[in-house]
Amino acid sequence: QERVFSGIQPTGHLHLGNYLGALKRFVELQESHDCLYCVVDLHALTAQLVHDDLKGQTRSITAAFLACGIDPKEQIVFNQSAVAAHAELAWVFNCVARIGWMNRMTQFKDKAGKDRENASLGLLAYPSLMAADILLYRATHVPVGEDQKQHLELARNIAAKFNVDFAERIEKAGCGVAMTMGEERTTGYFPMTEPLIEGEATRVMSLRDGTKKMSKSDASDNARINMTDDAETIARKIRKAKTDPEPLPSDVDGLAERAEANNLVGIYAALSDTTRQGVLRDYGGRPFSEFKPALAELAVDRLSPINAEMRRLLADPAEIDAVLKDGAERAGELAEKTMRDVKDIVGFI
Ligand code: TYM
Repeated sequence: QERVFSGIQPTGHLHLGNYLGALKRFVELQESHDCLYCVVDLHALTAQLVHDDLKGQTRSITAAFLACGIDPKEQIVFNQSAVAAHAELAWVFNCVARIGWMNRMTQFKDKAGKDRENASLGLLAYPSLMAADILLYRATHVPVGEDQKQHLELARNIAAKFNVDFAERIEKAGCGVAMTMGEERTTGYFPMTEPLIEGEATRVMSLRDGTKKMSKSDASDNARINMTDDAETIARKIRKAKTDPEPLPSDVDGLAERAEANNLVGIYAALSDTTRQGVLRDYGGRPFSEFKPALAELAVDRLSPINAEMRRLLADPAEIDAVLKDGAERAGELAEKTMRDVKDIVGFI
């Protein structure tokens, strides 16, 4: 049975990259899959231990899930810390995973910076908790942006090592399922989760620098479009976005050496559910002075209804908290079943 899991950290501003790389895909996938969408508040502590407003940001991400169109009755929307099994399974995975694997994570290297000895243990173990998020529900598919690819490979490595290390116990417990690992057909407990990194905006870049990812933590607010920006701000940021002086090329090959143009065309394509080539069919040969206003109009058209609905939802936190509580109960039931198996496999009484 196919199941989707994904998560977003309640840190900083949600931006267009989060929307196109993740949220928009979450909404599309609920048509065909059972989905769990999680606000990963445990992970947020790795970014900021004493958080300015963790509750507020958790509610804000939840509001974004709902405002984008995720149906919390059909799907499960919850916050990570409300299901204690995430931390419990992460501990087991901390003992499965190797320190060397964690040390190789580019996100860890970036975030820890030069003073690695002084990074928190939580930051190092971050991907192990992320593997627990996914595998607690034995999720088969995980929609994410490009930047999470390495973490998902690590989740597969953890699942594979668990399956191999505990192979006999899994067989004895009788809870294994048939699966393919590499070329081999075997039995295992945790599935080899597939990342879903799809579409024209899996890596939305900064509006100020086409070689840098659009990110929640960029010091310049002009580098990103926030989900909470009003129409005027969105239009201004797009108008000021860095570009080169050439008109748009007539096919995608012409975008190869033009990072900023490539980024804006990709954003347009993703917002209008077409491809870069499709956008260039309409705009090839035209200058940015024509393309940018069209892009701004499209972005405002797509984002402002979401923005308005987020505001409405955030005016009454009780409704959001009720969604999270209900979601946590339903997620908790699924999680409990996995933890019963895992405890049996590992040998906890
Ligand atoms: P986070 O909170 O940094 O980002 C949330 C989602 O947005 C995607 N994303 C982008 N996509 C395209 N272009 C960008 N510039 C861009 N920036 C961010 C991310 O890829 C992500 O899909 N570790 C995760 C949260 C997490 C998780 C999980 C995800 C925790 N447990 C289990 C999936 C499954 C993170 O920090 O995402």
